[in-house]
Amino acid sequence: AGSGKFFVGGNWKCNGTKDSISKLVSDLNSATLESDVDVVVAPPFVYIDQVKNSLTDRIEIAAQNCWTGKGGAFTGEISVEQLKDLGCKWVVLGHSERRHVIGEDDQFIGKKAAYALSEGVGVIACIGELLEEREAGKTFDVCFQQMKAYADAVPSWDNIVVAYEPVWAIGTGKVASPEQAQEVHIAVRDWLSKNVSAEVASKTRIIYGGSVNGGNCAELAKKEDIDGFLVGGASLKGPEFATIINSVT
Ligand code: G3P
Repeated sequence: AGSGKFFVGGNWKCNGTKDSISKLVSDLNSATLESDVDVVVAPPFVYIDQVKNSLTDRIEIAAQNCWTGKGGAFTGEISVEQLKDLGCKWVVLGHSERRHVIGEDDQFIGKKAAYALSEGVGVIACIGELLEEREAGKTFDVCFQQMKAYADAVPSWDNIVVAYEPVWAIGTGKVASPEQAQEVHIAVRDWLSKNVSAEVASKTRIIYGGSVNGGNCAELAKKEDIDGFLVGGASLKGPEFATIINSVT
């Protein structure tokens, strides 16, 4: 950890029921959390209101996606204004599941990021390479291209947290080693320095996601350029998520 306040997000993805979420919220409400950490959870849209109304204010709420602009005749979409109405401070964008399962491209993601920021909602901007891209030596190219798409679209980096999530590590139990993650994080920071500004590079938090759990978080958190985590599976268990939050060094 190095830049800014440690940031830990829990991405619940498409999981949960009213009952299981009520249990998770009560576990989180009773957990002891280090004070020097920003903590955010991203429930499925349909449970955001339930979570906002029951979860401690210590933890902020993120949405897992948003529409590219104002609401209206866009069947099935959720606008940033609606997310704000429910109390969301953040939105996760560019997640690999939306890129590779749903087919969202860089421009579409950049448009959403710019719109969310213009409405005062922070963006957890995900990037990350596929296994075949890593094996072909293209990890940096892919990450830099995804970074460029955000940089081309957004007017400011003040309210952005970058989440590096190598696709081969997501939901696979195959976590990147602290060295593998650090290598990409420092490269992304260097990219920001050269292509945005030295100030943005030093201030922007770059968090890691991909099979983070209670057992591997402490080693990862020691790395200079790992400023927090975006956690999937392990964020569905309150006590384990608390361990990850408290791994701040
Ligand atoms: O956004 C978090 C993520 O994709 C990592 O998921 O289950 O590997 O922690 P998981």
